[in-house]
Amino acid sequence: NSIMKGGYDHYMQKEINEQPDSVLQTMRGRVKFDQKPKAMDPSWDPYHEKRITLGGLVDRISTIRSGRRIMFIACGTSFHACLACRQTMEELAELPVSLELASDLLDRRAPIFRDDMCVFVSQSGETADTLKALEYAKERGALCIGVTNTVGSAIARSTHCGVHINAGCEIGVASTKAYTSQMVALTMMGLALSEDSIRLRSKRNSIIDALGVLPDQIREVLKLDAEMLSLAEQLKEEQSLLVFGRGYNYATALEAALKVKEVALMHSEGILAGEMKHGPLALVDELLPIIVIATRDRMYQKMLSVVQQLLARGARLIILCNSGDSEMKEICASGGSRLIKVPETVECLQPIINIVPLQLLSYHLTVLRGYNVDQPRNLAKSVTVS
Ligand code: G6P
Repeated sequence: NSIMKGGYDHYMQKEINEQPDSVLQTMRGRVKFDQKPKAMDPSWDPYHEKRITLGGLVDRISTIRSGRRIMFIACGTSFHACLACRQTMEELAELPVSLELASDLLDRRAPIFRDDMCVFVSQSGETADTLKALEYAKERGALCIGVTNTVGSAIARSTHCGVHINAGCEIGVASTKAYTSQMVALTMMGLALSEDSIRLRSKRNSIIDALGVLPDQIREVLKLDAEMLSLAEQLKEEQSLLVFGRGYNYATALEAALKVKEVALMHSEGILAGEMKHGPLALVDELLPIIVIATRDRMYQKMLSVVQQLLARGARLIILCNSGDSEMKEICASGGSRLIKVPETVECLQPIINIVPLQLLSYHLTVLRGYNVDQPRNLAKSVTVS
């Protein structure tokens, strides 16, 4: 058993630590980072020097591009991966993107049309709600695309086309490496859909370059393990933990809170920082710990102001920011806030880096609180009944 865990104490710990490799597997053979100009090769096309090839989608790219909207449908952590990539998809595919929790889509019997492009995201490929939503969308004539981690799974088989995330078998009930690989796969899908856009070329190239160094950056951020253990020591007796994020990192806040509640069995809530004034602010006092995700992206100035408003109320903050963020360091100099410093990447990939220390935190919290890491009470890896 311990051989299966590769020397780690738990599968969740092993799977968190595998992420430099699992995201690489997701990209393998699909991302062409740098095709150097061959002076003598007349077929070399300078516009396409960086390319994404998703074998399971190549024949469908133009159909998807001509659809009326892209609809993401998933449950749990897979839903959070969709949320994290929604803006990337809107910006790259330039189509309206909607998100549906599979159970809610079915409860509402929401309208789906034949020119809808429905993307079903599921680690196991067997989640009953997602599978039922797939049948529902198929009956309505939509193009159904599967993004799963399990070749031959029900969702992989029943969709018209799709992408395998190739993260490798995930055993811990709480999804970790599948989450980061789902985000990589969905980003690649956005890149594949925007390949013909000259206007988006430099943006695409910078995302592809960033994908190239992502495994090393994840390796770097995993070095925060000891720091996350010490943070977990500090938080282990708490009743509750809030996580604030916005923009690309709203999903990070929801996913971090889900990890803390599902494995560490601690109440935790992910909060959209833009909604802070509409309720959550009432909870803020000197005792309640709050994690604020404030890495440098378009939302940074707004997050700085969130931090200042929380500090003005004496809040106990743990701030996740980019290494070398002197502004944040200065603001927090006087208070007792703790900083978690992570490497910087392009904003659409930052959620992939940001979730890693928070996965480590939830892992250590669980061990310190004495709960079962790989099989949290009442939960199943794959929910095949609805
Ligand atoms: C269960 C698991 C979660 C997972 C969710 C969706 O609730 O405990 O970790 O995110 O199902 O599973 P799927 O296999 O469809 O991604």
